Amino acid sequence: MSLSFEGRVVLVTGAGGGLGREYALAFAERGASVIVNDLGTDTKGGGKSSAAADKVVEEIRAKGGKAVANYDSVEDGEKLIQTALDAFGRIDVVVNNAGILRDRSFARTSDLDWDLIQRIHLRGSFLVTRAAWNHMKNQKFGRIIMTASAAGIYGNFGQANYSAAKLGMLGLANTLAIEGRKYNVHCNTIAPVAGSRLTETVMPPDLVASLKPEYVAPLVLWLCHEQCQENGGLFEVGAGWIGKLRWERSQGQIVRKKNKSMTPEAVRDQWDKICDFTDATKPATVQESLQSMVSVLSRMESEDQVGANSTAAAASP
Ligand code: NAI
Repeated sequence: MSLSFEGRVVLVTGAGGGLGREYALAFAERGASVIVNDLGTDTKGGGKSSAAADKVVEEIRAKGGKAVANYDSVEDGEKLIQTALDAFGRIDVVVNNAGILRDRSFARTSDLDWDLIQRIHLRGSFLVTRAAWNHMKNQKFGRIIMTASAAGIYGNFGQANYSAAKLGMLGLANTLAIEGRKYNVHCNTIAPVAGSRLTETVMPPDLVASLKPEYVAPLVLWLCHEQCQENGGLFEVGAGWIGKLRWERSQGQIVRKKNKSMTPEAVRDQWDKICDFTDATKPATVQESLQSMVSVLSRMESEDQVGANSTAAAASP
């Protein structure tokens, strides 16, 4: 059975071009009513125009799809959701995709370079998602996408502001996934790679042409479908390839002894062990993370009688 979005109302932010346009077209093609949001800025966030969103709405309508335009900034989150409610009476899916770049080496990053990036990417995603949240909760269905970036996951020269915002969005998604779970409101994060006006300045033209946005959109559609139970995931996607990421934690090492002060020298002396990923664990929740430390406390308490320092295994959950 093909995946239909008939009856679903989907907001894609920054859908006037690049990846967002592709998502909007793909959702509409499968029956969704789409709010094509775009402020129509340049890549650095300057200027504004209704042309970008209008063009995509026209494209969708020309193919017999349902779409309306919205020209507000994601910083006016409520207005975007109001457009969905006014036009289609509900909101089912939010794809937080709008974005700009203000790349600078860290030393040259101005307050404005920092603030604009946090405002559009992180705060904008917060405001749009919060405006949709209660509607999704009440109807017991919602699908939210956060758009992170490899620059956030791995770091990238000249993108301190952008990296911080993009991984901030992952942190936001991690908690939304927990708070939304029991209401069937799921939130996942993608780190896409695609040729667009954002990447054409850093990628050679043939790569920009080959890395098509249409190789990213199918993941977004799947994650936003009611059949998909994935929640709180992080995916890298591009070139037709999709992979999932997760955290890994070394077994670690206890570096203190009961009733003795813990010293930086002990940390130094155990450094290799602390950083050794042999038999690494993959904690997935705060509870799992904390549990291993609580078990260290009790392990040390009981091992004190024997006078032994802990083993690495003591830190495993
Ligand atoms: P793009 O520049 O083609 O599209 C972004 C759209 O967002 C533009 O149409 C722009 O007008 C709109 N926009 C900017 N500020 C806005 C605001 N305040 N309110 C509403 N709309 C606004 O860029 P692209 O490449 O399609 O990027 C889409 C998302 O994917 C961005 O969040 C970007 O950071 C992210 N991304 C893209 C990668 C790539 O390889 N293209 C890599 C990693 C992340």
